[in-house]
Amino acid sequence: QNAPLIDPFARTIDYLRVSVTDRCDFRCTYCMSEHMTFLPKAELLSLEELDRLCTSFVDLGVKKLRVTGGEPLVRRGIMSFFEGMSRHLDSGALHELTLTTNGSQLRRFAQPLFDAGVRRVNVSLDTLDEKKFAAVTRWGRFAQVMDGIDAALEAGLKVKINAVALKGINDDEAVDMVRWCHARGLDMTFIEVMPMGDDIERLDEYWSLDDVRATLAEQFTLTDIPLNTGGPARYMRAEETGGRIGFITPLSHNFCESCNRVRLTCTGQLYMCLGQDDDADLRKVLRASDDDAPLHDAIRRAIARKPKGHDFDYSRQTVSGEMGRHMSHTGG
Ligand code: GTP
Ligand code: 5AD
Ligand code: SF4
Repeated sequence: QNAPLIDPFARTIDYLRVSVTDRCDFRCTYCMSEHMTFLPKAELLSLEELDRLCTSFVDLGVKKLRVTGGEPLVRRGIMSFFEGMSRHLDSGALHELTLTTNGSQLRRFAQPLFDAGVRRVNVSLDTLDEKKFAAVTRWGRFAQVMDGIDAALEAGLKVKINAVALKGINDDEAVDMVRWCHARGLDMTFIEVMPMGDDIERLDEYWSLDDVRATLAEQFTLTDIPLNTGGPARYMRAEETGGRIGFITPLSHNFCESCNRVRLTCTGQLYMCLGQDDDADLRKVLRASDDDAPLHDAIRRAIARKPKGHDFDYSRQTVSGEMGRHMSHTGG
C-alpha cells in the first residue's frame, strides 16, 4: 500500500484536477484572450497517457478526479478516458469522477457520462441574460447551454452552477441567479475573479463575495451549513428556497491552508498551485519508461515542493500576484 501524498504544510493531497485540452468552443473574457494560439497535437498527452498518469495519482491516494479544460467535452474521444477511469470508481479507490464544463456539449455527453459513473457536473454560467452571455463568452450560445443543463438533469446528473462574480456584468443578477438555480434544484456557487491571463483589467471587474453575500442577504435568510464537497467552496443555505449557495473566495478569504489539490495540464505539467508558476514535467518522466515507479517518485518530489499558497491580491486597489498564464491552461 502506498503512503498518501502529504505536502510540506501537512496537507493531504487527494484531489487531482486534470485539464484534458487547452481548447474551448467559448472564449470567456477572464479565461482566454480573443485570439488564442493552441498547442500542437503532438504536445498533448494521448488519452492512454492521461489514463496512465491519472492512475498513478489514484495509486498514490487521489480520491477525487475533476476533468477540466479548456472545455473537456471538445477533446476528441474523451468518453474513452471517462470510461477507463470508471474502473477506479468500481474498485473503490476513486470516490468521485467529475468535470467542470461550459455545458455546450452536454446534450450529447450527459448520458454517457452518467453511464461512466459521473454523478455530478459543475457548469460555468455567469449570467442568465443572453446579451451579457454573448459578451462574456464571446463565442458561446446561450440556448445550447440551457439545453445542455436540461440534458444533464434528464440523465440523472446533479448540476452545480458556477458563476464568476463580475462587477458591471452580473452584479445585478445574483439574486435572480440563485432563484433560477434553486427553482431547478441546482446548487449555485460564486467565484471571485482571479488575475490570470492578459485580456481584461480584472480589478475593475472584481466583486468581492462579501458584497455578493450582503446583496443576497437582503433577499434571503442565509445560514452556514457544514457541507464539504472536497473543493474550496464554503456553503450557506437560503432558507426561503431551501437551496445551497457556495462561495469561493481566493481573494477576500484565502483558503490555501486547507488546499487538498494539484492540477495537471493537457501536456503533463503538474502545477502545485493555481496561483504559482512552479510546475513539474511529468510527461518527460512518463515517456522515458513504462515503469510506474519513477513516475510515482516524480509525483512525490513535486508534491514536496507545493507552495503555501497564491499571492493574488487586489487590496489597496492594485493587482498583485497576477499570472500571465491563462486560466484555460490549468482549468481553474
Ligand atoms: P466541487 O467538487 O463542486 O467542490 O468543485 P470545485 O470547486 O472543486 O471545482 P470547480 O471546477 O467548480 O472549481 C471552481 C473554481 O474554484 C475553479 O475553477 C477555480 O476558479 C477555483 N478554485 C478551485 N480550486 C482552487 C484553488 O486551489 N485555488 C484557487 N485560487 N482557486 C481555486
Ligand atoms: N477567475 C476565477 N474563475 C475563473 N474561471 C475561469 N477563469 C477564471 C478567473 N480568471 C472559472 C470558470 C469555471 C472554472 C473552471 O473556472 O468560470 O467555472
Ligand atoms: Fe471555455 Fe470555460 Fe474558459 Fe469559458 S471559462 S473560455 S467556457 S474553458
